[in-house]
Amino acid sequence: MNHKRVLRLAVTVAATSALAAGMTMTLTSTASAGTTLKASAAEKGRYFGAAVAGQKLSDNTYVTILNREFNSVVAENDMKWDATEPQQGRFVYTGGDRLVSHAQANGQSVRGHALLWYQQQPGWAQNMSGSALRSAMINHVTQVATHFRGKIHSWDVVNEAFADGNSGARRDSNLQRTGNDWIEAAFYAARAADPGAKLCYNDYNTDGINAKSTGIYNMVRDFRSRGVPIDCVGFQSHLGTSLASDYQANLQRFADLGVDVQITELDVMSGGNQANIFAGVTRACMNVSRCTGITTWGVRDCDSWRGSDNALLFECSGNKKAAYTSVLNALNAGPGITPSPTTPGPTTPGPTTPPPTTPPPTTPPPGPDGCTASVSLNSWTGGFVASVKVTAGSAGTNGWNVSVTLPGGASVTNTWSATASGSTGTVRFTNVNYNGRLGAGQVTEFGFQGTGSAAGVTPTCTAS
Ligand code: G3I
Repeated sequence: MNHKRVLRLAVTVAATSALAAGMTMTLTSTASAGTTLKASAAEKGRYFGAAVAGQKLSDNTYVTILNREFNSVVAENDMKWDATEPQQGRFVYTGGDRLVSHAQANGQSVRGHALLWYQQQPGWAQNMSGSALRSAMINHVTQVATHFRGKIHSWDVVNEAFADGNSGARRDSNLQRTGNDWIEAAFYAARAADPGAKLCYNDYNTDGINAKSTGIYNMVRDFRSRGVPIDCVGFQSHLGTSLASDYQANLQRFADLGVDVQITELDVMSGGNQANIFAGVTRACMNVSRCTGITTWGVRDCDSWRGSDNALLFECSGNKKAAYTSVLNALNAGPGITPSPTTPGPTTPGPTTPPPTTPPPTTPPPGPDGCTASVSLNSWTGGFVASVKVTAGSAGTNGWNVSVTLPGGASVTNTWSATASGSTGTVRFTNVNYNGRLGAGQVTEFGFQGTGSAAGVTPTCTAS
Protein backbone atom coordinates (compact mmCIF):
# COMPACT_ATOMS: atom_id res chain seq x y z
CA MET A 1 0.00 0.00 0.00
CA ASN A 2 1.11 3.47 -0.83
CA HIS A 3 1.70 5.77 2.10
CA LYS A 4 0.75 8.93 0.20
CA ARG A 5 -2.68 7.43 -0.37
CA VAL A 6 -3.09 7.00 3.37
CA LEU A 7 -2.36 10.62 4.02
CA ARG A 8 -4.53 11.87 1.19
CA LEU A 9 -7.52 10.00 2.53
CA ALA A 10 -6.94 10.77 6.18
CA VAL A 11 -9.86 12.72 7.55
CA THR A 12 -9.08 16.04 9.15
CA VAL A 13 -11.16 15.96 12.29
CA ALA A 14 -9.01 15.51 15.37
CA ALA A 15 -9.94 12.67 17.65
CA THR A 16 -10.00 13.15 21.33
CA SER A 17 -13.16 13.41 23.35
CA ALA A 18 -15.32 12.90 20.27
CA LEU A 19 -14.34 9.25 20.24
CA ALA A 20 -16.07 8.61 23.50
CA ALA A 21 -19.33 9.97 22.14
CA GLY A 22 -19.94 6.95 19.93
CA MET A 23 -19.78 4.53 22.84
CA THR A 24 -22.85 2.35 23.00
CA MET A 25 -21.94 -0.35 25.50
CA THR A 26 -21.88 -0.34 29.22
CA LEU A 27 -18.28 -1.04 30.12
CA THR A 28 -16.81 -1.49 33.55
CA SER A 29 -14.24 1.08 34.57
CA THR A 30 -11.23 -0.82 35.85
CA ALA A 31 -8.34 1.60 36.23
CA SER A 32 -5.01 -0.20 36.46
CA ALA A 33 -1.34 0.60 36.43
CA GLY A 34 0.44 -1.80 34.15
CA THR A 35 3.95 -0.73 33.24
CA THR A 36 4.29 -2.45 29.87
CA LEU A 37 2.00 -2.43 26.85
CA LYS A 38 1.41 -6.16 27.07
CA ALA A 39 0.64 -6.20 30.80
CA SER A 40 -1.72 -3.25 30.53
CA ALA A 41 -3.50 -4.70 27.50
CA ALA A 42 -3.75 -8.14 29.14
CA GLU A 43 -5.29 -6.61 32.26
CA LYS A 44 -8.07 -5.40 30.01
CA GLY A 45 -8.44 -8.73 28.21
CA ARG A 46 -6.61 -7.61 25.06
CA TYR A 47 -3.32 -8.32 23.34
CA PHE A 48 -0.73 -5.75 22.23
CA GLY A 49 1.31 -6.86 19.25
CA ALA A 50 4.01 -5.87 16.79
CA ALA A 51 4.87 -6.80 13.22
CA VAL A 52 8.22 -8.58 13.19
CA ALA A 53 10.78 -8.57 10.41
CA GLY A 54 12.58 -11.91 10.57
CA GLN A 55 16.05 -10.45 10.10
CA LYS A 56 15.61 -8.23 13.18
CA LEU A 57 15.34 -11.20 15.53
CA SER A 58 19.13 -11.09 15.85
CA ASP A 59 19.10 -7.43 16.98
CA ASN A 60 19.35 -7.31 20.79
CA THR A 61 17.74 -3.91 21.30
CA TYR A 62 14.85 -4.92 19.06
CA VAL A 63 14.27 -8.30 20.71
CA THR A 64 14.51 -6.85 24.22
CA ILE A 65 11.69 -4.40 23.46
CA LEU A 66 9.67 -7.00 21.56
CA ASN A 67 9.66 -9.44 24.46
CA ARG A 68 9.23 -6.86 27.21
CA GLU A 69 6.33 -4.95 25.63
CA PHE A 70 4.43 -7.20 23.20
CA ASN A 71 2.44 -10.40 23.74
CA SER A 72 1.43 -10.88 20.12
CA VAL A 73 3.48 -10.98 16.93
CA VAL A 74 2.76 -10.99 13.22
CA ALA A 75 5.17 -11.65 10.37
CA GLU A 76 5.71 -8.40 8.48
CA ASN A 77 6.55 -10.41 5.34
CA ASP A 78 7.43 -14.03 6.17
CA MET A 79 3.96 -15.61 5.80
CA LYS A 80 3.03 -13.87 2.54
CA TRP A 81 2.44 -15.87 -0.63
CA ASP A 82 5.77 -14.98 -2.29
CA ALA A 83 7.63 -16.04 0.86
CA THR A 84 5.75 -19.28 1.53
CA GLU A 85 5.22 -20.69 -1.98
CA PRO A 86 7.96 -19.23 -4.19
CA GLN A 87 7.40 -21.96 -6.76
CA GLN A 88 4.05 -23.61 -7.23
CA GLY A 89 3.72 -26.51 -4.82
CA ARG A 90 7.09 -25.85 -3.11
CA PHE A 91 6.35 -24.47 0.33
CA VAL A 92 8.92 -22.64 2.46
CA TYR A 93 8.09 -22.08 6.10
CA THR A 94 11.51 -21.12 7.46
CA GLY A 95 10.67 -17.52 8.32
CA GLY A 96 7.16 -18.26 9.61
CA ASP A 97 8.33 -21.18 11.73
CA ARG A 98 11.12 -19.06 13.22
CA LEU A 99 8.59 -16.44 14.28
CA VAL A 100 6.20 -19.03 15.74
CA SER A 101 9.08 -20.56 17.75
CA HIS A 102 10.07 -17.14 19.01
CA ALA A 103 6.47 -16.46 20.03
CA GLN A 104 6.05 -19.80 21.77
CA ALA A 105 9.28 -19.33 23.71
CA ASN A 106 8.17 -15.90 24.87
CA GLY A 107 4.46 -16.34 25.64
CA GLN A 108 3.30 -14.41 22.57
CA SER A 109 0.32 -15.29 20.39
CA VAL A 110 0.69 -15.12 16.61
CA ARG A 111 -1.40 -13.32 14.00
CA GLY A 112 -1.09 -14.84 10.55
CA HIS A 113 -0.62 -12.40 7.64
CA ALA A 114 -1.62 -12.69 4.79
CA LEU A 115 -2.94 -15.80 3.02
CA LEU A 116 -4.24 -14.01 -0.08
CA TRP A 117 -3.35 -10.53 -1.29
CA TYR A 118 -3.19 -8.96 -4.73
CA GLN A 119 0.39 -7.84 -3.89
CA GLN A 120 3.43 -9.95 -2.99
CA GLN A 121 2.27 -12.86 -5.12
CA PRO A 122 5.02 -15.09 -6.46
CA GLY A 123 5.67 -14.59 -10.16
CA TRP A 124 4.04 -17.89 -11.12
CA ALA A 125 0.75 -16.85 -9.49
CA GLN A 126 0.86 -13.37 -11.04
CA ASN A 127 0.90 -15.09 -14.41
CA MET A 128 -2.12 -17.30 -13.73
CA SER A 129 -5.81 -16.67 -14.19
CA GLY A 130 -9.22 -18.31 -14.16
CA SER A 131 -9.81 -21.75 -12.72
CA ALA A 132 -6.09 -22.58 -12.57
CA LEU A 133 -5.49 -19.54 -10.33
CA ARG A 134 -8.61 -20.30 -8.28
CA SER A 135 -7.43 -23.80 -7.48
CA ALA A 136 -3.85 -22.64 -6.86
CA MET A 137 -5.00 -19.99 -4.43
CA ILE A 138 -7.29 -22.37 -2.53
CA ASN A 139 -4.45 -24.88 -2.35
CA HIS A 140 -2.20 -22.14 -1.01
CA VAL A 141 -4.68 -21.24 1.73
CA THR A 142 -5.17 -24.90 2.62
CA GLN A 143 -1.48 -25.78 2.74
CA VAL A 144 -0.30 -22.75 4.69
CA ALA A 145 -3.18 -22.72 7.18
CA THR A 146 -2.70 -26.46 7.70
CA HIS A 147 1.03 -26.05 8.31
CA PHE A 148 0.43 -23.46 11.03
CA ARG A 149 -2.74 -25.13 12.35
CA GLY A 150 -3.22 -24.66 16.09
CA LYS A 151 -0.51 -21.98 16.30
CA ILE A 152 -2.34 -18.95 14.93
CA HIS A 153 -4.63 -16.74 17.00
CA SER A 154 -6.11 -14.92 13.97
CA TRP A 155 -5.41 -15.20 10.25
CA ASP A 156 -5.68 -12.37 7.75
CA VAL A 157 -7.25 -14.70 5.21
CA VAL A 158 -7.79 -11.97 2.63
CA ASN A 159 -5.93 -8.66 2.61
CA GLU A 160 -6.86 -5.41 0.84
CA ALA A 161 -9.51 -6.64 -1.59
CA PHE A 162 -11.48 -3.38 -1.75
CA ALA A 163 -10.79 -0.36 -3.94
CA ASP A 164 -9.87 3.06 -2.61
CA GLY A 165 -12.08 6.04 -3.39
CA ASN A 166 -15.83 6.36 -3.44
CA SER A 167 -16.95 3.20 -5.22
CA GLY A 168 -17.17 0.92 -2.20
CA ALA A 169 -16.44 -1.87 -4.70
CA ARG A 170 -13.96 -4.69 -4.90
CA ARG A 171 -10.50 -3.89 -6.24
CA ASP A 172 -9.68 -5.34 -9.64
CA SER A 173 -7.03 -8.08 -9.40
CA ASN A 174 -6.22 -11.47 -10.85
CA LEU A 175 -7.86 -12.97 -7.75
CA GLN A 176 -11.05 -10.93 -8.20
CA ARG A 177 -11.22 -11.95 -11.86
CA THR A 178 -11.51 -15.62 -10.83
CA GLY A 179 -15.05 -14.77 -9.65
CA ASN A 180 -16.65 -12.63 -6.97
CA ASP A 181 -16.91 -15.60 -4.61
CA TRP A 182 -13.11 -15.91 -4.27
CA ILE A 183 -13.12 -14.29 -0.82
CA GLU A 184 -15.70 -16.61 0.68
CA ALA A 185 -14.03 -19.60 -0.96
CA ALA A 186 -10.81 -18.60 0.81
CA PHE A 187 -12.57 -18.33 4.17
CA TYR A 188 -14.16 -21.77 3.80
CA ALA A 189 -10.76 -23.27 2.92
CA ALA A 190 -9.08 -21.58 5.89
CA ARG A 191 -11.77 -22.75 8.32
CA ALA A 192 -11.43 -26.32 7.13
CA ALA A 193 -7.63 -26.18 7.46
CA ASP A 194 -7.44 -24.54 10.90
CA PRO A 195 -10.76 -24.57 12.72
CA GLY A 196 -9.21 -23.02 15.84
CA ALA A 197 -7.99 -19.79 14.24
CA LYS A 198 -10.11 -16.66 14.06
CA LEU A 199 -10.49 -15.75 10.39
CA CYS A 200 -10.19 -12.05 9.50
CA TYR A 201 -10.62 -9.74 6.54
CA ASN A 202 -7.95 -6.98 6.72
CA ASP A 203 -7.76 -3.60 4.96
CA TYR A 204 -6.55 0.04 5.14
CA ASN A 205 -8.23 3.42 4.62
CA THR A 206 -11.06 2.06 6.75
CA ASP A 207 -10.42 4.51 9.58
CA GLY A 208 -13.97 5.79 10.01
CA ILE A 209 -17.26 5.45 8.18
CA ASN A 210 -16.46 5.97 4.50
CA ALA A 211 -17.28 4.40 1.14
CA LYS A 212 -14.54 1.79 1.41
CA SER A 213 -15.32 0.73 4.97
CA THR A 214 -19.01 0.62 4.07
CA GLY A 215 -18.30 -1.67 1.12
CA ILE A 216 -16.45 -4.01 3.48
CA TYR A 217 -19.19 -3.69 6.08
CA ASN A 218 -21.77 -4.80 3.51
CA MET A 219 -19.63 -7.80 2.58
CA VAL A 220 -19.21 -8.86 6.21
CA ARG A 221 -22.93 -8.45 6.88
CA ASP A 222 -23.67 -10.60 3.82
CA PHE A 223 -21.13 -13.25 4.92
CA ARG A 224 -22.62 -13.39 8.42
CA SER A 225 -26.14 -13.75 7.07
CA ARG A 226 -25.12 -16.60 4.73
CA GLY A 227 -22.91 -18.46 7.20
CA VAL A 228 -19.57 -17.74 5.54
CA PRO A 229 -17.01 -18.39 8.31
CA ILE A 230 -15.64 -14.92 9.10
CA ASP A 231 -14.78 -14.09 12.71
CA CYS A 232 -12.97 -10.76 12.64
CA VAL A 233 -12.11 -7.64 10.69
CA GLY A 234 -8.67 -6.01 10.81
CA PHE A 235 -8.34 -2.23 10.56
CA GLN A 236 -4.76 -1.55 9.49
CA SER A 237 -4.78 2.10 10.64
CA HIS A 238 -1.77 3.53 8.84
CA LEU A 239 -2.52 7.07 9.95
CA GLY A 240 -1.50 10.61 9.07
CA THR A 241 -1.87 13.74 11.18
CA SER A 242 -5.51 13.37 12.20
CA LEU A 243 -8.01 10.72 13.19
CA ALA A 244 -11.60 10.49 11.99
CA SER A 245 -14.11 11.47 14.67
CA ASP A 246 -16.12 8.35 13.81
CA TYR A 247 -13.16 5.95 14.07
CA GLN A 248 -14.69 4.24 17.12
CA ALA A 249 -18.21 4.27 15.71
CA ASN A 250 -16.89 2.45 12.65
CA LEU A 251 -15.30 -0.30 14.78
CA GLN A 252 -18.53 -0.58 16.73
CA ARG A 253 -20.74 -1.03 13.67
CA PHE A 254 -18.60 -3.97 12.55
CA ALA A 255 -18.61 -5.43 16.08
CA ASP A 256 -22.39 -5.20 16.03
CA LEU A 257 -22.38 -7.62 13.08
CA GLY A 258 -21.04 -10.27 15.49
CA VAL A 259 -17.37 -10.21 14.51
CA ASP A 260 -14.32 -9.26 16.56
CA VAL A 261 -12.37 -6.22 15.44
CA GLN A 262 -8.62 -5.71 15.72
CA ILE A 263 -6.28 -2.81 14.99
CA THR A 264 -3.76 -4.65 12.87
CA GLU A 265 -1.01 -2.39 11.45
CA LEU A 266 -1.07 0.78 13.50
CA ASP A 267 1.48 3.51 12.74
CA VAL A 268 1.06 7.29 12.83
CA MET A 269 2.87 10.20 11.15
CA SER A 270 5.20 11.89 13.64
CA GLY A 271 4.62 15.47 14.73
CA GLY A 272 2.67 17.27 17.40
CA ASN A 273 -0.41 15.09 17.12
CA GLN A 274 1.22 11.67 17.07
CA ALA A 275 0.78 10.86 20.75
CA ASN A 276 -2.86 12.04 20.72
CA ILE A 277 -3.71 9.96 17.69
CA PHE A 278 -2.10 6.83 19.12
CA ALA A 279 -4.07 7.43 22.33
CA GLY A 280 -7.30 8.05 20.39
CA VAL A 281 -6.98 4.75 18.54
CA THR A 282 -6.21 2.91 21.78
CA ARG A 283 -9.19 4.48 23.56
CA ALA A 284 -11.46 3.60 20.65
CA CYS A 285 -10.39 -0.05 20.83
CA MET A 286 -10.83 -0.14 24.60
CA ASN A 287 -14.32 1.32 24.28
CA VAL A 288 -15.44 -1.43 21.88
CA SER A 289 -15.80 -4.66 23.80
CA ARG A 290 -15.18 -6.79 20.70
CA CYS A 291 -11.92 -4.98 19.91
CA THR A 292 -9.58 -7.73 21.04
CA GLY A 293 -6.13 -6.31 20.33
CA ILE A 294 -3.86 -3.72 18.79
CA THR A 295 -0.77 -4.39 16.66
CA THR A 296 1.77 -1.74 15.66
CA TRP A 297 3.43 -2.29 12.26
CA GLY A 298 6.94 -2.68 13.61
CA VAL A 299 8.73 -1.97 16.88
CA ARG A 300 10.98 1.11 16.56
CA ASP A 301 10.88 4.05 14.16
CA CYS A 302 13.85 2.65 12.27
CA ASP A 303 12.08 -0.70 11.78
CA SER A 304 9.11 0.87 10.05
CA TRP A 305 8.23 0.70 6.32
CA ARG A 306 7.39 4.41 6.71
CA GLY A 307 11.03 5.42 7.19
CA SER A 308 11.38 9.10 8.05
CA ASP A 309 7.77 9.36 9.26
CA ASN A 310 9.06 8.04 12.62
CA ALA A 311 5.67 6.38 12.93
CA LEU A 312 6.07 4.00 15.87
CA LEU A 313 6.30 4.00 19.69
CA PHE A 314 10.06 3.57 20.24
CA GLU A 315 13.10 5.49 19.06
CA CYS A 316 15.78 3.53 17.30
CA SER A 317 17.87 3.59 20.48
CA GLY A 318 15.04 1.77 22.23
CA ASN A 319 13.86 4.83 24.18
CA LYS A 320 10.12 5.14 24.70
CA LYS A 321 8.48 8.05 22.88
CA ALA A 322 5.68 10.32 24.15
CA ALA A 323 3.33 8.23 22.00
CA TYR A 324 4.32 5.15 24.03
CA THR A 325 3.28 6.82 27.27
CA SER A 326 0.00 8.00 25.77
CA VAL A 327 -0.84 4.46 24.62
CA LEU A 328 0.10 2.96 27.99
CA ASN A 329 -2.03 5.51 29.83
CA ALA A 330 -4.97 4.87 27.51
CA LEU A 331 -4.68 1.12 28.09
CA ASN A 332 -4.54 1.61 31.85
CA ALA A 333 -7.49 4.02 31.86
CA GLY A 334 -9.64 1.94 29.52
CA PRO A 335 -12.49 -0.34 30.47
CA GLY A 336 -11.98 -4.07 30.60
CA ILE A 337 -13.83 -6.32 28.21
CA THR A 338 -17.31 -7.19 29.35
CA PRO A 339 -19.26 -9.92 27.60
CA SER A 340 -21.05 -8.51 24.59
CA PRO A 341 -24.67 -9.48 23.96
CA THR A 342 -25.15 -12.90 22.45
CA THR A 343 -24.80 -12.65 18.72
CA PRO A 344 -27.10 -14.72 16.58
CA GLY A 345 -25.00 -17.10 14.52
CA PRO A 346 -25.17 -17.32 10.76
CA THR A 347 -28.51 -18.62 9.62
CA THR A 348 -27.92 -20.50 6.39
CA PRO A 349 -25.33 -23.21 5.83
CA GLY A 350 -22.56 -22.33 3.40
CA PRO A 351 -21.80 -24.43 0.35
CA THR A 352 -19.08 -26.69 1.73
CA THR A 353 -18.63 -26.15 5.46
CA PRO A 354 -21.17 -26.16 8.28
CA PRO A 355 -21.79 -22.66 9.57
CA PRO A 356 -19.82 -21.85 12.69
CA THR A 357 -21.41 -20.22 15.66
CA THR A 358 -19.06 -17.80 17.32
CA PRO A 359 -20.35 -16.55 20.63
CA PRO A 360 -18.32 -13.62 21.88
CA PRO A 361 -15.40 -14.72 24.05
CA THR A 362 -15.71 -13.86 27.69
CA THR A 363 -12.50 -12.75 29.31
CA PRO A 364 -12.71 -12.36 33.04
CA PRO A 365 -10.18 -10.02 34.62
CA PRO A 366 -7.32 -11.78 36.40
CA GLY A 367 -8.16 -12.76 39.97
CA PRO A 368 -6.01 -11.76 42.93
CA ASP A 369 -3.79 -14.79 42.36
CA GLY A 370 -4.10 -18.18 40.67
CA CYS A 371 -5.49 -18.00 37.15
CA THR A 372 -8.75 -17.70 35.26
CA ALA A 373 -9.88 -19.31 32.02
CA SER A 374 -12.53 -18.45 29.48
CA VAL A 375 -13.70 -20.36 26.46
CA SER A 376 -14.82 -19.33 23.00
CA LEU A 377 -16.63 -21.99 20.95
CA ASN A 378 -17.03 -22.58 17.24
CA SER A 379 -19.82 -25.17 17.07
CA TRP A 380 -21.65 -27.03 14.39
CA THR A 381 -24.03 -29.97 14.44
CA GLY A 382 -22.00 -32.85 15.83
CA GLY A 383 -18.75 -31.02 16.60
CA PHE A 384 -16.93 -28.03 17.97
CA VAL A 385 -13.61 -26.27 18.33
CA ALA A 386 -12.90 -24.60 21.67
CA SER A 387 -10.33 -21.81 22.12
CA VAL A 388 -9.42 -21.33 25.78
CA LYS A 389 -7.76 -18.21 27.11
CA VAL A 390 -5.78 -18.63 30.34
CA THR A 391 -5.04 -15.45 32.30
CA ALA A 392 -2.54 -15.47 35.17
CA GLY A 393 -3.47 -13.70 38.40
CA SER A 394 -1.32 -11.20 40.21
CA ALA A 395 1.26 -13.79 41.31
CA GLY A 396 1.84 -15.20 37.81
CA THR A 397 2.07 -18.96 37.22
CA ASN A 398 4.75 -21.63 36.97
CA GLY A 399 2.21 -23.91 35.35
CA TRP A 400 -1.55 -24.29 35.05
CA ASN A 401 -4.36 -26.80 34.67
CA VAL A 402 -7.74 -26.14 33.15
CA SER A 403 -10.62 -28.53 33.86
CA VAL A 404 -13.63 -28.70 31.59
CA THR A 405 -16.63 -30.91 32.22
CA LEU A 406 -18.18 -31.93 28.91
CA PRO A 407 -21.83 -32.84 28.55
CA GLY A 408 -22.69 -36.52 27.99
CA GLY A 409 -21.90 -37.67 24.45
CA ALA A 410 -19.16 -35.07 23.90
CA SER A 411 -15.56 -36.15 23.43
CA VAL A 412 -12.21 -34.40 22.85
CA THR A 413 -10.49 -35.62 19.69
CA ASN A 414 -7.57 -33.20 19.28
CA THR A 415 -5.72 -30.69 21.50
CA TRP A 416 -3.11 -28.02 20.73
CA SER A 417 -0.86 -25.92 23.01
CA ALA A 418 -1.85 -28.09 26.01
CA THR A 419 -1.87 -31.77 27.01
CA ALA A 420 -5.25 -33.37 27.64
CA SER A 421 -5.90 -35.99 30.26
CA GLY A 422 -9.09 -37.90 29.46
CA SER A 423 -11.44 -37.23 26.59
CA THR A 424 -14.94 -37.43 28.06
CA GLY A 425 -16.58 -36.15 31.22
CA THR A 426 -14.15 -33.95 33.14
CA VAL A 427 -11.10 -33.40 30.94
CA ARG A 428 -7.97 -31.82 32.42
CA PHE A 429 -5.70 -29.72 30.18
CA THR A 430 -2.15 -29.02 31.38
CA ASN A 431 0.25 -26.43 29.99
CA VAL A 432 3.01 -27.54 27.63
CA ASN A 433 6.62 -26.55 28.28
CA TYR A 434 6.53 -23.15 26.56
CA ASN A 435 3.31 -21.68 27.95
CA GLY A 436 3.18 -22.67 31.64
CA ARG A 437 5.16 -19.77 33.03
CA LEU A 438 3.07 -16.59 32.84
CA GLY A 439 3.73 -13.18 34.32
CA ALA A 440 1.06 -11.34 36.30
CA GLY A 441 -1.95 -10.75 34.08
CA GLN A 442 -0.31 -12.49 31.13
CA VAL A 443 -2.56 -14.43 28.77
CA THR A 444 -1.95 -17.60 26.80
CA GLU A 445 -4.27 -19.70 24.72
CA PHE A 446 -4.81 -23.35 23.92
CA GLY A 447 -7.50 -25.19 22.04
CA PHE A 448 -9.24 -28.47 21.53
CA GLN A 449 -11.55 -30.02 19.02
CA GLY A 450 -14.30 -32.48 19.78
CA THR A 451 -17.37 -34.36 18.71
CA GLY A 452 -20.81 -33.78 20.22
CA SER A 453 -21.70 -30.49 21.85
CA ALA A 454 -19.70 -28.41 24.33
CA ALA A 455 -22.41 -25.79 24.74
CA GLY A 456 -22.32 -24.12 28.14
CA VAL A 457 -19.00 -25.56 29.35
CA THR A 458 -17.26 -23.51 32.04
CA PRO A 459 -13.49 -23.94 32.38
CA THR A 460 -11.83 -23.86 35.80
CA CYS A 461 -8.19 -22.81 36.05
CA THR A 462 -5.70 -23.86 38.75
CA ALA A 463 -2.21 -22.37 38.91
CA SER A 464 0.91 -24.09 40.19
O1 G3I B 1 14.21 -9.00 1.42
C1 G3I B 1 14.41 -8.34 0.15
C2 G3I B 1 15.85 -8.05 -0.10
O2 G3I B 1 16.54 -9.27 -0.17
C3 G3I B 1 15.99 -7.25 -1.38
O3 G3I B 1 17.32 -6.88 -1.56
C4 G3I B 1 15.14 -5.99 -1.32
C5 G3I B 1 15.18 -5.23 -2.64
O4 G3I B 1 14.01 -4.48 -2.83
O5 G3I B 1 13.80 -6.39 -1.08
C6 G3I B 1 13.61 -7.07 0.15
O6 G3I B 1 12.25 -7.37 0.28
C7 G3I B 1 11.38 -6.30 0.60
C8 G3I B 1 10.64 -6.65 1.87
O7 G3I B 1 9.70 -5.64 2.18
C9 G3I B 1 11.55 -6.85 3.07
O8 G3I B 1 12.18 -5.64 3.37
C10 G3I B 1 10.40 -6.10 -0.53
O9 G3I B 1 11.10 -5.64 -1.68
C11 G3I B 1 9.38 -5.09 -0.12
O10 G3I B 1 8.37 -5.04 -1.13
C12 G3I B 1 8.73 -5.50 1.17
O11 G3I B 1 7.83 -4.50 1.57
C13 G3I B 1 6.83 -4.88 2.48
C14 G3I B 1 5.47 -4.55 1.86
O12 G3I B 1 4.44 -4.83 2.80
C15 G3I B 1 5.19 -5.38 0.63
O13 G3I B 1 5.06 -6.73 0.96
C16 G3I B 1 7.02 -4.13 3.77
O14 G3I B 1 8.20 -4.60 4.41
C17 G3I B 1 5.83 -4.36 4.69
O15 G3I B 1 5.92 -3.50 5.81
C18 G3I B 1 4.54 -4.05 3.96
O16 G3I B 1 3.46 -4.37 4.81
C19 G3I B 1 2.17 -4.08 4.30
C20 G3I B 1 1.23 -5.15 4.80
O17 G3I B 1 1.70 -6.42 4.45
C21 G3I B 1 -0.20 -4.94 4.27
N1 G3I B 1 -0.67 -3.60 4.58
C22 G3I B 1 0.22 -2.51 4.18
C23 G3I B 1 1.61 -2.72 4.77
C24 G3I B 1 2.53 -1.56 4.43
O18 G3I B 1 2.71 -1.45 3.05
